[in-house]
Amino acid sequence: MSNVKACIFDLDGVIVDTAKYHYLAWKRLANEMGFDLTEEQNEQLKGISRMASLDILLGIGNQVFDKKEKVELADRKNTWYRECIIKMKPDEIFPGVIDFLNQVKAAGMKSAIGSASKNAMTILEQLGIVDYFDSIIDGNKAQKAKPNPEVFLKASIELAVAPEHCVVFEDAQAGVEAAKNGGMFCVGVGSPEILGQANMVVAGLHEMKIEMLDF
Ligand code: G6P
Ligand code: MG
Repeated sequence: MSNVKACIFDLDGVIVDTAKYHYLAWKRLANEMGFDLTEEQNEQLKGISRMASLDILLGIGNQVFDKKEKVELADRKNTWYRECIIKMKPDEIFPGVIDFLNQVKAAGMKSAIGSASKNAMTILEQLGIVDYFDSIIDGNKAQKAKPNPEVFLKASIELAVAPEHCVVFEDAQAGVEAAKNGGMFCVGVGSPEILGQANMVVAGLHEMKIEMLDF
């Protein structure tokens, strides 16, 4: 029997391609301020909170704003982002996700979402998959941005599964670090060049079989 008792999934970029909507909204904000955000630079923004992402973006563009202005900029980005996510349909769930969630359940393991996003519930409801998860820890429940492991540790507590029995699925460098900082095995979802720190890397959950967690 597997030593793994729970799977904790990041949302954006693992379950669904909201990462592209985040990127488009940040890029639009950067363009309005007169600079560009490349896809490579965008990797730094993945997995971390909205305000921490904004700080990195402003650093890239050498922009300085006070706190009130920063809140206004982040709100503007979030409005554009929400315009995209409220139109999402279940067919935007990545291939293999539902099948793998069913395999996790059939193996007697628990599942959770561990996301920095304050929009996570909106997305899960829009996709109709709230009930697949035994615990949902999002940016409203956890304050410390990845690579701090808080979001995953809170999921481990809610699931009542010790970190060494949890596997995290992550598409962001900061998320892989967070999983490792929390003492969890990490499956990187994406490219090995970017996620080299993960214990295992797959291109997407369609490549996952529950037997791969037999350790
Ligand atoms: C996820 C994404 C990040 C995003 C963060 C906050 O972790 O990977 O790119 O900045 O959530 O999302 P929010 O929906 O709260 O702005
Ligand atoms: Mg992600």
